[in-house]
Amino acid sequence: MKLQKSHFIEISDIKHSYMINGLLLKAIFFAKNPNQFEKYSDKFIAFLFMEASTRTNLSFKVACQRLGVNILELDIKHSSFEKGETFRDTVETIEAMGADALIVRTSDDQLLNNHRDINSSLINAGSGITSHPSQALLDLFTIQTELNRIDKLTIAIIGDIEHSRVASSNIKLHLELGNEVILCSPEFFNKSYEELEYTDLDDCLKRADVVIFLRIQFERHSNITINKDEYLEKYGLTSNRINQIKDHAVILHPGPVNRGIEISSDVLNHPQVKILDQVKNSIPMRMAIIDSILEEKF
Ligand code: CP
Repeated sequence: MKLQKSHFIEISDIKHSYMINGLLLKAIFFAKNPNQFEKYSDKFIAFLFMEASTRTNLSFKVACQRLGVNILELDIKHSSFEKGETFRDTVETIEAMGADALIVRTSDDQLLNNHRDINSSLINAGSGITSHPSQALLDLFTIQTELNRIDKLTIAIIGDIEHSRVASSNIKLHLELGNEVILCSPEFFNKSYEELEYTDLDDCLKRADVVIFLRIQFERHSNITINKDEYLEKYGLTSNRINQIKDHAVILHPGPVNRGIEISSDVLNHPQVKILDQVKNSIPMRMAIIDSILEEKF
């Protein structure tokens, strides 16, 4: 009988809060020791990206390379998915070639949860509108790096909350850590999170230690028309608004930024805007995630 492998599909797959500290410690170690490791030269990880990605795809690849993990990449558009092969049959085919884990991006909220019984480990690289747990962890690592703590914080999340898997995973993670989470969005992007307060942007900027602006997920709601200037005025970060944030506060955005809608171009290089630091920090954090999965520590 094969033992079932561990998966990282949801924030709730982090079974104990001490695992969060374990992942952060590993990420700190990998950030300080960025050289190649040959630890996993006998391991294979397959990449199945069924939605577009730049940051998540490439940073998971760099993370694999630094750990010495071999990469198998499925070019979805030229794969047998196009002939109607199922996800399960595809995974079993890739497993038969020796894959130890699969890193998957999908528009389907439940695809990965519905395949928890497969033999290789599943790592969620973003699923539908529900879950992007590695993004929440790399955001947390950025918070740790910038503020030197991850608790007793107020986290403000601004924008397209309804369609954002980044919002959903960050909310779960920060509630688990006991942080205060406050939300701001136009009514048509509201999503009800029990006990979470919606407030206006000025209030968020004044109160928060961390402000996460979200990308408007235009591809997920073709029926909503956004007046871009109005949106920037009410819900975006501008040079006037950035003066309201606390001296120590950091501004995050998962990327890609819709310039001039969520954040105006002239503040992207402001020292408290940490978007490219998030990208840099994504590599050690994703090394930590892969290392933990391959060590079966999830
Ligand atoms: N943050 C994020 O998931 O970016 P990509 O879509 O470029 O991977």
